[in-house]
Amino acid sequence: MDSKLPGIGTTIFTRMSALAAECGAINLSQGYPDFEAPEELREALARAVMDGHNQYAPMSGLPALREQLALQLQLHRGVACDPETEITVVPGATEGIFCSIMASVRAGDEVLVMDPSYDSYIPAIEMAGGKAVRIALRAHSFAVDWDAVAATLNPRSRMIIINSPHNPTGAVLSEDDMHTLERLAIEYDLLVCSDEVYEHLTYDDLPHRSVLQYPGLRERSFAHFSFGKTFSVTGWKTGYCVAAPALSAELRKVHQFVAFVAVTPVQQAVADFLADYPEYPARLAGFYQRKRDLFCDALAGSNFRLRPSAGTYFQLLDYSDISTATDQQLAEQWTRELGVASIPISVFYPSPPGLHYLRFCFAKNDATLEQAAEILCGI
Ligand SMILES: Cc1ncc(COP(=O)(O)O)c(C=O)c1O
Repeated sequence: MDSKLPGIGTTIFTRMSALAAECGAINLSQGYPDFEAPEELREALARAVMDGHNQYAPMSGLPALREQLALQLQLHRGVACDPETEITVVPGATEGIFCSIMASVRAGDEVLVMDPSYDSYIPAIEMAGGKAVRIALRAHSFAVDWDAVAATLNPRSRMIIINSPHNPTGAVLSEDDMHTLERLAIEYDLLVCSDEVYEHLTYDDLPHRSVLQYPGLRERSFAHFSFGKTFSVTGWKTGYCVAAPALSAELRKVHQFVAFVAVTPVQQAVADFLADYPEYPARLAGFYQRKRDLFCDALAGSNFRLRPSAGTYFQLLDYSDISTATDQQLAEQWTRELGVASIPISVFYPSPPGLHYLRFCFAKNDATLEQAAEILCGI
């Protein structure tokens, strides 16, 4: 068939995981845990299925779950929100992000994206008929270049997409960043699509700052969250979007004809689990910080340059002192020859900026991380 989307290929995650499987490599490429979710959560899912929670949920999500999510937002972010009109449960943050873009972006509208960027944003913008305006994060610190952002804003700018904690770099937006974003969003009347799927994974006492905590952003933002990240169940593919009533109403218009609903027993299981363990998400930062430290400590004697990740469960390793090859060449070579798979970050840019970083996922058992680090130390 004559492709309607000739520029869109298979994601790097699919490609690297397939290569890792083919080579029997330790897979630190795709971002998912190789350990189990809490037993109580898995039992809650089995119970939900056996208790008959198996038919369509309401389009915006099970009321019991939305109520728990409103309590979570109050507990962890100090944010009040109406579960009826402001929370929509979706089959994964990817769908929520897609729906918020589809609902907002008209043909010719400009959408600002910071590179390197999660790979679902650009296709969604293009499918909506919009134009992605891509701005590189500052080299090495991966901070937002707000001067560059301000310089590109114009009356056609419709939306800005932010992602903090940031995949693939692990960078986290600061209080100053949020105030600058708020000021620019108001000045240029922008909508904000805020990808906060790693909200609970920030380290060294650094807080996560949600757009929902800033009044000027609260009314113009879609904030996206994922149970896959928070509960170590990426395969359950369920998340939620929080937005002001008028924005949620528009998002739901798209959601009801893309997926209509998220999976019912998963929603019931998460609602039951959160009712019993409301503090569970707050424990994640400590859990993953220990894994980050284990991985970084084990690499201390290696030839990589490394700055411990501020958030997410990804660690960038700078191989400038090891090789001048491109990150795509090295990711493939080391998967095949050394048996450790990673993700090259150049694929998240429109044209690779010549940086020498590979992304490694540390949401893995300690033994897996130790084994991978030992191999990497031999380079
Ligand atoms: C930055 C970012 N956004 C969104 C997602 C997708 O989340 P979900 O699996 O809930 O669709 C991911 C998953 O890796 C991610 O890293």
